[in-house]
Amino acid sequence: MKIKIGIMFGGKSTEHEISIISAIQAIEYLDRSKYDIIPIYITKNNEFYIGEEIGNIESYTNLKSLLAKSQRIILVNDENKVKLIRYPGKKFSSNYIDYIDIAFPIVHGTNVEDGTLQGFLSMMNIPFVGCDVVSSAVGMDKYVMKTVLKDNGIPVLDCKCYNAKEYDEDNEKIAKEIEDSIGYPVIVKPVNLGSSIGISKADSREKLLSSLDTAFSYSGKVLVETAVQNLKEINCSVLGDYEDAEASELEEPIGNGEILDFSDKYIGDGSAKGVKGAKSGLKLGAKGAKGAKSAGSKGMATLKRKIPAEITAEQSKIIKDYAVKAFKCLGCSGVSRIDFMMDTKTGKIWLNEINTIPGSLSFYLWEPIGVPYSKLLDKMIDLSLKRQREAENITYAFDSNVLQGVSFGTHGVRQ
Ligand SMILES: Nc1ncnc2c1ncn2[C@@H]1O[C@H](COP(=O)(O)OP(=O)(O)O)[C@@H](O)[C@H]1O
Ligand SMILES: [Mg+2]
Repeated sequence: MKIKIGIMFGGKSTEHEISIISAIQAIEYLDRSKYDIIPIYITKNNEFYIGEEIGNIESYTNLKSLLAKSQRIILVNDENKVKLIRYPGKKFSSNYIDYIDIAFPIVHGTNVEDGTLQGFLSMMNIPFVGCDVVSSAVGMDKYVMKTVLKDNGIPVLDCKCYNAKEYDEDNEKIAKEIEDSIGYPVIVKPVNLGSSIGISKADSREKLLSSLDTAFSYSGKVLVETAVQNLKEINCSVLGDYEDAEASELEEPIGNGEILDFSDKYIGDGSAKGVKGAKSGLKLGAKGAKGAKSAGSKGMATLKRKIPAEITAEQSKIIKDYAVKAFKCLGCSGVSRIDFMMDTKTGKIWLNEINTIPGSLSFYLWEPIGVPYSKLLDKMIDLSLKRQREAENITYAFDSNVLQGVSFGTHGVRQ
């Protein structure tokens, strides 16, 4: 019997739309001889929908009409499956619609990729593809991530991290502290966003305050670090889990300005063709995906990138080794993309961030080393089943007679 997979995408995130593209692209490549696929769209209010047209990219140009034609559901775990139940339910009829054996979250950003959806799926008791709760959460918070990586000997830029309350209380004091400890130019970023949203560079007090204002409008926690000079960015995907993981080919994303911004990443300028390897990425790909043409013409062109990155063999090895080490020490699973920054004058390398569910699942970094997209998806699914088997061997119950003769006393319960 085929495995029934629920591909979950969307959600209450600033990267909602990007996730729709990543997910529908992956759906086109999943091996239908092995899997039955149920696309599950999560609205910006975190409501779940299924239906004939949910997996069709063109339908998302008119969301209202798409939702009207689709069925809202809730997920209920029952006998090692997750059942998809009509919501609101109809009286006097069965509201059971279908089930899934495995969930495959292809979501990006806060409220979904950050362990939230993973926590929900863990509670549902079914295998799910990709990072678990902790690695997703640590990977999403750039400050926490740096702290863990630093502790594991992986080079990251030092930073200052502030919350909205301390910023509101005395923004000038914070600006002064940044000037004294880091010095201009600095990069200011919300700790838990992606796609360059809310990130900017500052080289004066005035610009710093406006950068902080912008970043705080997207997140209650903001970090500031030195702006790397002579910047070259290099990204490496890693596939595997805590036991065994391998690095992909490296890419060098090319932007138009000082930092790679949202429009470099997703809008493009139509000139991407000239760059070797640029044909892949956030376009739906060349497999004749339904709706791919219209997505392309609406400007979802790919980021310009060089594949492989133009760096020495020695630099390439250093980056791949750090990427695998970071992936393992964060406890990641499935496929992640780990992004590095290099100062081309000094040759210094820092790990910038990890994307635990990267755009397009980084498939274009695996194809050049002989892993077709459908095989990459197979491996990710296998890893989720392996994790589930391992979890089944862990004891989650502890029998005791503590509830017999319980009394609250005056001191409460100590754990
Ligand atoms: N310390 C830095 N120095 C120079 N450029 C940076 C620095 N940090 C980020 N950038 C630029 O901003 C972009 C987005 O930052 P990043 O930390 O990767 O956030 P996101 O999760 O939004 O992709 C990077 O790709 C890079 O171009
Ligand atoms: Mg980035």
